[in-house]
Amino acid sequence: MKGLILSGGAGTRLRPITHTAAKQLVPVANKPVLFYGLEAMRAAGIDEVGIVVGDTRAEIEAAVGDGSAFDLAVTYLPQDAPRGLAHAVLISEGFLGDEPFVMYLGDNLLKEGIQPFVRAFEATGPDALILLQKVADPQSYGIAELDGDGCVSRLVEKPAEPRSDLALVGVYLFTPAVFESVKAIEPSARGELEITDAIQHMVDRGLRVEPHVVTGWWKDTGKLEDMLEANRLVLSTLVRDVQGDLHETTIEGPVVVGPGSRLERCTVRGPVVIGAGCRLSDTFVGPYTSLSDGVVVDHAEIEHSIVLENSRISHLSTRMSDSLIGRDCVIAHSDARPVAYRFLVGDSCQIGIL
Ligand code: DAU
Repeated sequence: MKGLILSGGAGTRLRPITHTAAKQLVPVANKPVLFYGLEAMRAAGIDEVGIVVGDTRAEIEAAVGDGSAFDLAVTYLPQDAPRGLAHAVLISEGFLGDEPFVMYLGDNLLKEGIQPFVRAFEATGPDALILLQKVADPQSYGIAELDGDGCVSRLVEKPAEPRSDLALVGVYLFTPAVFESVKAIEPSARGELEITDAIQHMVDRGLRVEPHVVTGWWKDTGKLEDMLEANRLVLSTLVRDVQGDLHETTIEGPVVVGPGSRLERCTVRGPVVIGAGCRLSDTFVGPYTSLSDGVVVDHAEIEHSIVLENSRISHLSTRMSDSLIGRDCVIAHSDARPVAYRFLVGDSCQIGIL
């Protein structure tokens, strides 16, 4: 069985972070989301993976390379524009050949990985296996309706008036029978070749599409709240590992401090992950916070947040919470007159002030 990871697309809902970075490389607990997918493939016994890439190809390639760091052989499959998930399958036919494959959306995270679903697919031999989970906001997902016997009867992409709350999780297992369906469907109203339509086409052809309800947590990290929640879920399994230098610093609970980091007069209440080469002083870091490599914080309190590489946070009079801060940002108190907020802020930013 081969693997197909979708890592193209635009990432509009995570702007401004995704103006400059691929959304699949935004870190959860200091590890890019995409790496969880690659590790899940390997854990399921898959060794050949194709990654569909778009405009951010160079960045994805720089991070993943030939895949050997994950014990995988990786092939890059360029998609000219984000023309839909079924289009991504279409352009991957040459790579996938006549093998069954697991398709994994590069911004999805599943607690149990994919191994149980790969085993179920191999054991029962359907034409497709889809994963479902109940959600509170079915309008935001592809939705599946099941009939009285628990068989898939209808699939709709982001319905305005959902008739089911069972969302399609971003992991799908297919036999090559899917290619006939991705070739047969037309673009949707939003102009994309939808994988939901292709699966519906398989159902209509009388093929066996097996639904599988996911019981462990699953997150599509496409939006800020989901990103923070994914960070929280992954951090809740953290194991303490302190490698940096601590001076007059209190560490409580599961905390990771990377090599070369120095903490002075701080309190860190886990779960918290602090990367390598960070400098923290006179600071409180509260639960569910991830600070990437090279972050500098002084005289500040931070909790339930993600801060990316080399950003600096200094002299905050109020605790920072529920935030995602990009790379090389500076958030600092200033004594300059007149007393005022001073911003240099890019497109599509969100700032909450007192
Ligand atoms: O997360 C689950 C949902 O994922 C499903 O419930 C939906 O049925 C499915 O359509 C998908 O919805 P999203 O709106 O979240 O898809 P998104 O555009 O975010 O794309 C998912 C991943 O696939 C993302 O890593 C980008 C990549 N992608 C997307 C498109 C449209 C591509 O590589 N090529 C594409 O053409």
